[in-house]
Amino acid sequence: MLDQLEQTEKGALAELSAAADAAALEAWRIAYLGASGRLKALMGSLKDVPKDQKPAVGARLNSLKTSLEAAHASRKDQLGAAPVAAGPMIDMTEPGLVDSRALGRAHIISRVRDELVEVFARMGFEVADGPELEDDEHNFVKLNIPQEHPARDPIDNFYVDNPARHTRPRMLRSQTSTVQVRTMEDAIKRGWGPPIKVVAPGRVYRPDTVDATHSFMFHQIEGLYVDRGVTMSELKSTLLHFARAYFGPDAEVRLRPSFFPFTEPSAEFDMKIRLRPDQPARWIELGGCGMVDPAVFEACGLDPEVWTGFAFGFGIERIAMGKYGIPDIRMLFENDLRFLEQL
Ligand code: DAH
Repeated sequence: MLDQLEQTEKGALAELSAAADAAALEAWRIAYLGASGRLKALMGSLKDVPKDQKPAVGARLNSLKTSLEAAHASRKDQLGAAPVAAGPMIDMTEPGLVDSRALGRAHIISRVRDELVEVFARMGFEVADGPELEDDEHNFVKLNIPQEHPARDPIDNFYVDNPARHTRPRMLRSQTSTVQVRTMEDAIKRGWGPPIKVVAPGRVYRPDTVDATHSFMFHQIEGLYVDRGVTMSELKSTLLHFARAYFGPDAEVRLRPSFFPFTEPSAEFDMKIRLRPDQPARWIELGGCGMVDPAVFEACGLDPEVWTGFAFGFGIERIAMGKYGIPDIRMLFENDLRFLEQL
């Protein structure tokens, strides 16, 4: 019996080194180590071995098992390390299942701003801008907001210079209407207008207490059109066009009488939009508008007997929140990736 085991081991190891691929290796494993393989059969015949030889044969059987298993494992490693000749090809150009590149994108406010500019550009509006660090001349005086007007209260503005001590105190602009003044002044100085047709998106600052609808910094987009014979109905049709282009063909606009020092007449404008198919359309207040006040033309050096115009200004966050169903303005500034990645 011990001889037989010796022969079996030799033969098995020889066959194993001849096994050249995974299939041959598996066939060898089944033949020798499998549930009805040679080793199992030899173990079964242990019962016929004379009693005095059993310990020796038993031990040899165990060492044979260990030796065959170890040889199998090392042959398996060898074959596994060798280059795979055949088998499924890997297409290296196939896109991965998980795109692990973390691609960034513009913030939702920047995207809405660009979309708004784009819509107005199609209606012939160019982009204008002005500084965020302004002076009260452009933020108030030339917009016909007199000294005693409550909007100029230091408590409601971020003054950089003390208004009580400076003749032209600097401040963080509280509205993009400043760009109306700058654009008209520029147009005269450089001799390129009127006509003037611009939109001016940008940041504005007000010391408001932060809550779901207020922030001390937000964005507005201002519009200004100056030409001969501009009418209020052009203002309304421009806003209607804009609303339909941006929110869809069912959008409606509504003007409600209001007051702003720099327009006369003035209006608040709302858009009625259906944000989701399962919801009724609703009115969303977007900002103010009106016909440019003659006092503003005069302050900027344009003859109000010749020039007419309309202006509007609305909040970009408002539009973004309305369009994307964002319930809280703070979400737009907290930079929480769980929020940003949804947009
Ligand atoms: N500047 C105003 C504000 O911040 C909004 C506004 C109203 C702008 C009327 C305009 C306008 O151009 O004509 O509340």
